[in-house]
Amino acid sequence: MAEPTRSRTISVSVNGEQIEHDVPARRLLVHFLRDDLGLTGTHVGCDTGNCGACTVHLDGAPVKSCMLLAVQADGAELTTVEGLAQNGELTALQQAFHEHHALQCGYCTPGMLMSATALLERNPHPTEEDVRVAIQGNICRCTGYVNIVEAVVAAGKRGA
Ligand code: FES
Ligand code: FES
Repeated sequence: MAEPTRSRTISVSVNGEQIEHDVPARRLLVHFLRDDLGLTGTHVGCDTGNCGACTVHLDGAPVKSCMLLAVQADGAELTTVEGLAQNGELTALQQAFHEHHALQCGYCTPGMLMSATALLERNPHPTEEDVRVAIQGNICRCTGYVNIVEAVVAAGKRGA
């Protein structure tokens, strides 16, 4: 007989908004964000921790939200791609992605932006090598990475 699904109330800050929500104990963080909160900018690519499409920030650090349970985020501050632009104004990094044609299908883009934003926060002027290391957990099947790397370096030069 299947074990009953237990749920628990978690309290998280998501893009600056404090939220309390009941979640089943086994609910993945990515499904909590997408299905419970409607924040579908966070994508699911592989569900196995390999592609990075689901990357969000947890207490300022990039994490793969398909690799965490929602209950593990209890008490944390989360930022998703929806939390980057403020008052409709793109960040310098988002603007650089636009200007450098750093996306094609866009599936990887939210995760790329979150990994690169975390890089720029700890290293505001990264080299090409720094960027390649920072996004090594993010797979892009379209661009060949060159324009993505150029965009992140350009955002650093501009002062993201
Ligand atoms: S969906 Fe999480 S790493 Fe691919
Ligand atoms: S732009 Fe298509 S996967 Fe990166």
